[in-house]
Amino acid sequence: MSERAAIILAAGVSSRMNTMMPKVLHEVCGRPMLAYVLDACRQVGVAKIYVVIGFSAEQVKESFDGAGDIEWVVQEKQLGTAHAVLCCREQLKDFGGQTLVLCGDGPLIRSATLRTLIEKHESEQSAATLATAVLADPSGYGRIVRDAYGNMQGIVEHSDCTNEQLAIREVNPSYYLFNNKVLFEALDKVQPDNVKKEYYLTDAMAGIIRTGHKVVAVTAVLPEEAMGVNSRRQLSEASKIMQRRIQQELMENGVTIVDPDNTWIDARAKIGQDTVIEPFTYIHGEVTIGLGCRIGPFAYLRNGTVLKNNVVLGVYTEVKNSTLDDGVRARHHSYIGDATIGRDVNIGAGSITANYDGQEVNHTNVGDNCYIGSGAILIAPLDIKDGSHVASGTVVSQESANELGGKSKSDVSQ
Ligand code: UD1
Ligand code: CA
Repeated sequence: MSERAAIILAAGVSSRMNTMMPKVLHEVCGRPMLAYVLDACRQVGVAKIYVVIGFSAEQVKESFDGAGDIEWVVQEKQLGTAHAVLCCREQLKDFGGQTLVLCGDGPLIRSATLRTLIEKHESEQSAATLATAVLADPSGYGRIVRDAYGNMQGIVEHSDCTNEQLAIREVNPSYYLFNNKVLFEALDKVQPDNVKKEYYLTDAMAGIIRTGHKVVAVTAVLPEEAMGVNSRRQLSEASKIMQRRIQQELMENGVTIVDPDNTWIDARAKIGQDTVIEPFTYIHGEVTIGLGCRIGPFAYLRNGTVLKNNVVLGVYTEVKNSTLDDGVRARHHSYIGDATIGRDVNIGAGSITANYDGQEVNHTNVGDNCYIGSGAILIAPLDIKDGSHVASGTVVSQESANELGGKSKSDVSQ
């Protein structure tokens, strides 16, 4: 097996997104686009990932701080995709293995497709292999031009296509695998002779074919994973597709999602078997839900929420940065923020934690088997002992909580 490196192109300014942010940091189901491309590379065994950055380079770097397998390469001026790859020349000049080249704006990439690409490259012993897709609407993509025998002759960018070529539905989703040496030899010869006057990576393909090397194009990319995100509209389309994938995986793992079209679940969420997600539930951020829970309708779970098993959250219940132990029930109109809620606690309709005093966010601790009546306001910082009964409509401060009796967790363990 050959050693494998990857280059991810992420330097572009993205005028079509109309954004001040680097394009690859725009989020799809809670994660930046680039994160998905990095994951796909890692899943097929890539030793080193070179990410080419330019526009707001520092911001991109900071978002992936601590990823030890990434080497950042700066492309000062965005002169085109071939030029972007050439920026890695110093780093890869002595590398004799395979180099994957992918775009950071293709979050729908799947590792299974990359595996097919690698297998094809190795079984065909080609110098360059690309995976293509056939789209109902190929607008905007580079078209794959093949000869009468089906061999690929080259890739023509949409803006350079003849009317005849515009009708070609086989496109380039920018999933390439090269023998590293061949790639850099070909890049040296690429010229910016096209409508946009850019150095096109796609032209390197034709160059490789001209020098007599074997190039193979394998139609392995599903239409839904071919999309490159160039606009806000495509960002929302990519998010929809990703959302469907996230939900499908959860359902395969035994989660019931009553109405997938009206449910939104973050890519980072983990949900246990036999949990039921009712319609209009929105789960955002790192959220962990245990077994047999019932969530929603209209529940909003935010970053840092941990629900143990058999927790029931009903309409208009919002939870943030809190851990709810087994059997907790908050069926109607609650806000639970920065709290630890013990086992089998019942939280009545409309009860909330007042976790922010205007300056600081404070923690609320509710012991096991507590009963919190309707309309209670729990003013943090607060520690309510096990078995406490909070009457409906009470405003609970630490002072009043001390009078509730019961045992706090620390009393029990002593
Ligand atoms: C590119 C392909 C096109 C393909 C499409 C798939 C070329 C010339 N065209 O077109 O065939 O169908 O992707 O989505 O390669 N980038 C840099 N530096 C640059 C220019 C671009 O890093 O100087 C990065 C961008 O940030 C982006 C990626 O390369 O992540 C692709 O560039 P983009 O301008 O989006 O290319 P497309 O027009 O989509
Ligand atoms: Ca693109």
